Amino acid sequence: MTHSRKKTIVGLSFGLAAMLAIPGQGSFGARHAAYSSDPPLERTRQEVKMLDDLFKNLIVLIDETYVKKLGDVAATTAGKALFAKMKKSGWYDVRALGLTDVMRNQDDLPRDAFEETAAKKLVAGDAWYEEVSEKNGKRYLRVATGIPVVSENCVMCHANFKGNKGNVGALSYTVPMIQ
Ligand code: HEC
Repeated sequence: MTHSRKKTIVGLSFGLAAMLAIPGQGSFGARHAAYSSDPPLERTRQEVKMLDDLFKNLIVLIDETYVKKLGDVAATTAGKALFAKMKKSGWYDVRALGLTDVMRNQDDLPRDAFEETAAKKLVAGDAWYEEVSEKNGKRYLRVATGIPVVSENCVMCHANFKGNKGNVGALSYTVPMIQ
């Protein structure tokens, strides 16, 4: 049902884009319009991409700069403290997930149907998995993005990551659609 409705909307906007594709207007705009059947979704997806880049760069920078020995505070612990503050401020919900069978913190296990499906997709090699969900009449974008073993340093505390070339973790976002 939702699927067929989506198809119709996409079909419509293709037609519209064709009409709007005035020569000299720049083909990028027209091509972009053709795929923007859901502008709030596009905007929210863009925000998640930006946040994902910010969080991952921050966590890797903390790891590279401050985490030198086994007893040091893990960069993920610092990241999780930041996520808790962002959630408390009412922005959105972000969680760190573990995708291997050894967890440093059981709280990081995939928790619901979305995270379980996302975990399978990311372990299979996808970098991004998303779903649109609805709660109390409000739409949310849920996204899980993969975390590979980006540094030799990781293995110091996660011995089971050794030799793993795929995604060993994820960030799981629940973000209200930007209207
Ligand atoms: C100093 C030890 C240490 C280092 C180095 C380290 N981690 Fe962790 N990692 C931890 C601890 C402790 C947790 C649990 C954090 C918490 O819940 O506060 C954790 C949690 C995680 C999680 C969430 C799943 C779980 O096991 O709870 C992922 C994914 C993760 N780390 C990936 C990495 C990656 C990738 C690197 C390398 C960039 C890395 N870690 C480096 C100690 C470390």
